[in-house]
Amino acid sequence: MTPQRTVLIVDDDRNTREGLKRALQGNYIVVMADSAEKALPLLDERTVDIVLSDIRMSGMDGMTLLQKIMARSNPPIVVMLTAYGNVETAVEAMKLGAYDFLTKPVNLDHLDILLKRALHSHEVESENLTLRAQLDNRFGLENIIGQSDPMREVFETIQQAAPTQATILILGESGTGKELVAHAIHRLSSRAKGPFIPVHCAALTPTLLESELFGHEKGAFTGAADRRRGRFELADGGTLFLDEIAEIQTSVQVKLLRVLEERQFERVGGHQTLDVDIRLIAATNADLAAMVKAGTFRNDLFFRLDVVSITLPPLRKRPDDIPLLCARFLKEFSLRNNKPVEDITPDTLDILSSYSWPGNVRELRNVIERMVVLSRTPRLTVRDLPAALRSAVQAEGPRASTVLKADSSGSLAPESMADAERVMIEAALKRNNENRTLAAGQLGISRRTLQRKLKEYRNEKP
Ligand SMILES: Nc1ncnc2c1ncn2[C@@H]1O[C@H](COP(=O)(O)OP(=O)(O)OP(=O)(O)O)[C@@H](O)[C@H]1O
Ligand SMILES: [Mg+2]
Repeated sequence: MTPQRTVLIVDDDRNTREGLKRALQGNYIVVMADSAEKALPLLDERTVDIVLSDIRMSGMDGMTLLQKIMARSNPPIVVMLTAYGNVETAVEAMKLGAYDFLTKPVNLDHLDILLKRALHSHEVESENLTLRAQLDNRFGLENIIGQSDPMREVFETIQQAAPTQATILILGESGTGKELVAHAIHRLSSRAKGPFIPVHCAALTPTLLESELFGHEKGAFTGAADRRRGRFELADGGTLFLDEIAEIQTSVQVKLLRVLEERQFERVGGHQTLDVDIRLIAATNADLAAMVKAGTFRNDLFFRLDVVSITLPPLRKRPDDIPLLCARFLKEFSLRNNKPVEDITPDTLDILSSYSWPGNVRELRNVIERMVVLSRTPRLTVRDLPAALRSAVQAEGPRASTVLKADSSGSLAPESMADAERVMIEAALKRNNENRTLAAGQLGISRRTLQRKLKEYRNEKP
C-alpha cells in the first residue's frame, strides 16, 4: 500500500474548496488554504504531493503562487483551476511548470483520473532520478559502470580533468571503454553544449585523414570537387576526439603537432590560416610510450597529448565490476528485446567472473546480449553461457580461476595474467583448427589484436 497522498487546495471561494474536499477526502489527505499567502507556509510545514490552485484570487494570484512553488527544490505537482474561457492563462501556467489545468466547474471524474496520472508520472520521474543518482554515486559516472578501486581512480581523474581545458590521453586495451570516457569528459566539461566530434584515425589513408582533419579547398587534390570543412573546424567551441591516435602517419603527426601548439591550421590546398577553439581528447590501445622509444611516434607530439592521461584497466583486473556490468547489460538488453530476463544464477556469474575477457567490457556486453536474446527463461543459467566461454574457463583450469580470484584483491602478478590469456588464446585456436578469424571472434577481440598477441607469444610476424 502506498501511503496516502496529501492534496493542498488553494481557492478563495469557499464552495469550490468544500466541493473539492468532499470529492477527494476518501482517497487523499486534504489541506486547504483560502489564499496563496496562506498556502506557502503550509508547504514548509508538511509534505504536500499535489497543489490544486485557483488562478484568479484576491491578493497573490495563482500564477505567482505557481512560480514560487516551482522555485522550491523538489516542488509538488501543481494543477491549476481556471474559469471557463481562461484557457490561455492556463496554458501559460503549464509553461511555468504546472502539470495540467482543469476548468471550473470541475468534473470530478476527470479530477480523479488526472491526479492518479500525475502522481504516477511523478513517481516514475523521481524513481528515474534516484536511479540515476545512485548510478552516478555508487556504480559509476555518467554511463561508465564500475565500483572497483581502479575504476574509482578513473572517475576521480575524469572529474578533476573534465572541467579544465587540458588535452587528455586515454589508454587501455580494446573494449575497455575509451570512447565512453571521452564522451563523459565532454559532457562534464564547460564545452558540453558545443559539438563532440570523433575521428577514427585508423580508418583513413594519410591523405584522406589530413583532409578529414583540416578540410580542403576546391581542387586541392583529385576528387576534391568542393571546399570542405574539416573536423577541427567542426569541433570549434567543442571537443575533438582523435581515436586510435597511434595509427596516424608521421606526415600527419607533424601537422597535428602544429595545431596543438598554435591552435591554427590551413585547409589542404588553402592559404588562409584558421583559428580554432577546441579541446582535444586522444585515445589508443597501443603502447604509445613504447612507440616513441621505437621512433614510430613523435616524441614532441606524445608530450603534447599526454598532459593528463587516463588508463582504463582491463576487465580481468577488476572482476568486482563484472556482476554490476552484467546487471546493467541485462536490463538494457531485456528492455531492448522486450524479453523479461531479470536475473543470472550465482554459479553463472562465477563463471563469468573467472573468464579473462580479452575483449573486455565490449565482449561481456556482447555475451550478455546473446544470452538474453537466446534465453527461454527469466533467469540466465550456466546452460545459457556460450559454449566457447564455458570451455575457455575449463581450459584455463582451476589455476586460471584461482589466479582470477586472487586478482580481486589486486595482488596478482602480471605474468600470471599474461599466462592465463595465452592459455585462452591457444585453447580458442585449437578449438577452431587454428582458424584465427573464428578464434578471434569467439574471444571477442579483433583478428588484428589476436595477431599482435600471437606475435608476442609466438614471436610471429603480425
Ligand atoms: N565501464 C563501462 N560501463 C558500461 N559500459 C561500458 C564500460 N566500458 C565499456 N563499455 C561498453 O563497452 C563497449 C566498448 O566500449 P568503447 O567503445 O568505449 O571501448 P574502446 O576502449 O573505445 O574500445 P576500442 O579500443 O576497441 O575502440 C561499448 O558498448 C561501451 O558502452
Ligand atoms: Mg574505441
